[in-house]
Amino acid sequence: LTAAEQAAFDAVVADDGRIEPRDAMPEGYRRTLVRQIAQHAHSEIIGMQPEGNWITRAPSLRRKAILYAKVQDEAGHGLYLYSAAETLGADRADLLDALHAGKQKYSTIFNYPTLTWADTMAIGWLVDGAAIMNQVPLSRCSYGPYARAMTRVCKEESFHQRQGFEGMLTLVRGTEAQRRMAQDALDRFWWPSLMMFGPPDDASPNSAQSMAWGIKRFSNDELRQKFVDVTAPQADFLGLRVPDPELRWNDERGHYDFGTPDWDEFMRVVKGDGPCNRQRLEARRRAHDEGAWVREAAAAHAARRSAVARA
Ligand code: 3HC
Repeated sequence: LTAAEQAAFDAVVADDGRIEPRDAMPEGYRRTLVRQIAQHAHSEIIGMQPEGNWITRAPSLRRKAILYAKVQDEAGHGLYLYSAAETLGADRADLLDALHAGKQKYSTIFNYPTLTWADTMAIGWLVDGAAIMNQVPLSRCSYGPYARAMTRVCKEESFHQRQGFEGMLTLVRGTEAQRRMAQDALDRFWWPSLMMFGPPDDASPNSAQSMAWGIKRFSNDELRQKFVDVTAPQADFLGLRVPDPELRWNDERGHYDFGTPDWDEFMRVVKGDGPCNRQRLEARRRAHDEGAWVREAAAAHAARRSAVARA
């Protein structure tokens, strides 16, 4: 960048403005955004699998229709995000190759199995609840296309979170077996949901720069705290016990105190050694291969249309 371009970029970020695709931007800013947006998009499409496994086994037509709509939304979120990454010069096919080769990440939460119907409801309540906590600030991030993609995503996430919470409420108001199934889902999804906000601030190599560039508006620990403060009372309302003996309201702090996630487990799952890492990537690669004919047909159709338009 020239000194004038750097000064212009710094002024827009300092003024909480928006950097647009055609604006001059530091290469590190562009690279950070491609990394984060690509992994966000990968998380959306891999995230379709755990819940998608329950569409054919939903307990009613109403639940099936809601879950179907939610999983379709996640595909759409992936689409918005890959498109946002393309405005930075990234090639979608390259990003997917990186995902399939294990060179780019997706959120560890999706490497846990959905063993019961309650797991699917807990994902809506907790995982989409955590996603909202993380994505609302992103709708005010400094990169225009990413911020705007988040505006629509957040509207759909609140439907996702509400349907999950309503599903948990139905279970805890059902039979004793259904209540136990809801508690079991909370036991297994609570801590992995806290890990969605990333490692602790003192072990987060990207945070300082991302916050200086107005990409990350709150630190990992700040958003994790906000999530616990909002979600713990919801668990109380459901009559469910959060699996954290250290969780308690701290009047002085005005926040909940809570225990420490197992960061060794987090690193193991990030590195590929989670319960479902292999099967998630295998299913993803298989879907990609089976969809090759659709991509070829769309490319052939586009080529024919442009040939006709030129003739
Ligand atoms: N799973 C996998 N990797 C994770 C992770 C997680 N839960 N949390 C952090 N990481 C990775 C980071 O990507 C980074 O690795 P990298 O440098 O190779 O990319 C490393 O751990 C260190 O973490 P940092 O805190 O330094 O990294 P960031 O500054 O990027 O912060 C983040 C991590 C908070 C996840 C940030 O990237 C972010 O806000 N991303 C956008 C939101 C997102 O991706 N959410 C994922 C879930 S999507 C979802 O829930 C959809 C909903 O519809 C269900």
